[in-house]
Amino acid sequence: MPVTYAETWFPVLIQILIAVGVAGAMVGLSALIGRRVRDTVKSSPYESGMKPIGNARERFSVKFYLVGMVFILFDIEAIFLYPWAVVYRELKQSLTDMDRMFTLLAAGREVPDAPNAPALAVRGAAVRFENVSFAYESARPILHNVDFTIAAGTTTAVVGHSGSGKSTLGRLLFRFYDLDRARGGRILIDGQDIRDVTQDSLRAAIGIVPQDTVLFNDSIYYNIAYGRPSATREEVIAAARAAHIHDFIEGLPAGYETPVGERGLKLSGGEKQRVAIARTLLKDPPLLIFDEATSALDSKSERAIQHELDSIARERTTLIIAHRLSTVVHAEQIIVMDHGRIVERGTHAQLLRAGGLFAQMWALQQQRAAHPEEGDDAVTQQDTAGA
Ligand SMILES: Nc1ncnc2c1ncn2[C@@H]1O[C@H](COP(=O)(O)OP(=O)(O)OP(=O)(O)O)[C@@H](O)[C@H]1O
Ligand SMILES: [Mg+2]
Repeated sequence: MPVTYAETWFPVLIQILIAVGVAGAMVGLSALIGRRVRDTVKSSPYESGMKPIGNARERFSVKFYLVGMVFILFDIEAIFLYPWAVVYRELKQSLTDMDRMFTLLAAGREVPDAPNAPALAVRGAAVRFENVSFAYESARPILHNVDFTIAAGTTTAVVGHSGSGKSTLGRLLFRFYDLDRARGGRILIDGQDIRDVTQDSLRAAIGIVPQDTVLFNDSIYYNIAYGRPSATREEVIAAARAAHIHDFIEGLPAGYETPVGERGLKLSGGEKQRVAIARTLLKDPPLLIFDEATSALDSKSERAIQHELDSIARERTTLIIAHRLSTVVHAEQIIVMDHGRIVERGTHAQLLRAGGLFAQMWALQQQRAAHPEEGDDAVTQQDTAGA
């Protein structure tokens, strides 16, 4: 936080010191320039350094004068020192921030690149989860032998109860965590184990709209342009339009330069999500992960953006995690997860015919949609959780 003058204890202290100093100096001085000033100075104990001369009142006046002068000198020094208090506080804050940054960097190194790892060579971006088991903490396994393929250029949707491990699939594909080689599973993109290629090349190939978007403490423009820093202003604006956030941004007093985050505008969940969608549209990568990408939007905005998402997902390999099943009807493949296992898979029609978990979840959501008083917008995680 920037330090303002009024916030510091310096102004108050300086005022008190000036008052005390001036009062002390004036009392002492008036006594000194009085009748016996000559005698007092002559016989000053501070001059001879030997024995105190003069009466008690004279000695008191001299002391009062000296103490007053010391206070005034201290005030002058304090005024000169004042900016250093601001600098000190800023410096301390910067050191704290740096400390956090290094902690984050150290945490990032948990997933190391193999020495001389090559870059990922993307052809069609076919994804293969091969017998993947995973645990964040070894005592609590999350995924059990998850095995599926997303053919190049197709869309696979993952649905299931809250906590069944859907987002974990996205995090593993993006390599926020590496699979334990001892467990034997693999994740491949176009036949290359993602642990064997550089993280930079892997992440450059993937666009992710995460469940919880984190924005940078910078302008809205920066946050969208981050998807592709070389993009022109026109391209950034086109992406914002496609994500239905352009009009909102234009309506802000500072427009695209509005700072977001800690020191600026706080965006709503839906607005953040649309910024993340714009960023991904701008990045235009061969592989997409949408993790509840429209969950914070009302159904009208969701339908509007869904159209854009469908059009970018066409021709691209896409992993969609969705709670609103109506948004994934057209996926080439739907995977139903339960407690870290794939329990069903197929197209929408096949899964309905099978009459399993998916059919139950679908029936429940259709029923809710038919009773708007319960609110389609209120359809959230509980749908899948409570199916
Ligand atoms: N960083 C983590 N450390 C430990 N456990 C975690 C971590 N992240 C997630 N989990 C656990 O892993 C399980 C699966 O989490 P995941 O986020 O994949 O669920 P999900 O299917 O995406 O749920 P939702 O629909 O609520 O988003 C949960 O039980 C969760 O508690
Ligand atoms: Mg999730």
